[in-house]
Amino acid sequence: MNLILMGPPGAGKGTQADTIKAAYPVPHISTGDMFREAVQQGTAMGLKAKSYMEQGQLVPDEVTIGIVEERLAQSDCQQGFLLDGFPRTIVQAEALDQVMKKLGGRIEAAINIAVPDEVLIQRTTGRVSCAACKTVYHTVFNPPAQAGVCDKCGGKLLQRSDDQEETARRRLEVYHQQTSPLLGYYQQRGILYSIDGDRAANQVFADIQEVLAGL
Ligand code: AP5
Ligand code: MG
Ligand code: ZN
Repeated sequence: MNLILMGPPGAGKGTQADTIKAAYPVPHISTGDMFREAVQQGTAMGLKAKSYMEQGQLVPDEVTIGIVEERLAQSDCQQGFLLDGFPRTIVQAEALDQVMKKLGGRIEAAINIAVPDEVLIQRTTGRVSCAACKTVYHTVFNPPAQAGVCDKCGGKLLQRSDDQEETARRRLEVYHQQTSPLLGYYQQRGILYSIDGDRAANQVFADIQEVLAGL
């Protein structure tokens, strides 16, 4: 099962990916998570990505394509994978097609989680996540039992630096300009499935499950 999870910043890609991978054991490949890890570790790639991410801009295609190509070539991706936040430009989508050709597989579904812009801003600006186990919460929609503390491991809950309102709005603009054209790209190929993401997470997941069952 080779899947792409698409949707604007805050749509719930990460949230749904966590549930999907519990039901279908495929590696979850989030380019955003990979970049944040590289920034934290201070690698050369992290240093390159940091300034773009802080400004809410996309990291250049050649950097992003390189890390995904490397990741998809690893053996755990042979039985399938779940891409989250990649591709985000037409150039990235074309590069992914080339990679799939080389690996001898194909993308079966691009699942788009659609959510209105103002809801997205509420979701991103209220998000906090555990510094230790990475579990994601929302201060209003999915609060931890004790503010600032992870329910699962007691770790400290932090806000992402690109979730400040100004940067969150910039990310949304960048999404509309550079990423939303991809919906047409996958629609033309007959593999786009759009889902109403402005509902409870378990309702969104039920629709995703229906799509996956039909593949
Ligand atoms: P990335 O990390 O991919 O961020 P994003 O696309 O902006 O998406 P988010 O992670 O913010 O949102 P999400 O859809 O995962 O939502 P979540 O489930 O957390 O990318 C970050 C940056 O990295 C980019 O800006 C760019 O610089 C760079 N980058 C990454 N990939 C790149 C690429 N391919 N090319 C170039 N650059 C790239 O949910 C959000 C919040 O809402 C949470 O608090 C959650 O609890 C809550 N929530 C979720 N679902 C629901 C629901 N149904 N109801 C109520 N609340 C909900
Ligand atoms: Mg995410
Ligand atoms: Zn935790």
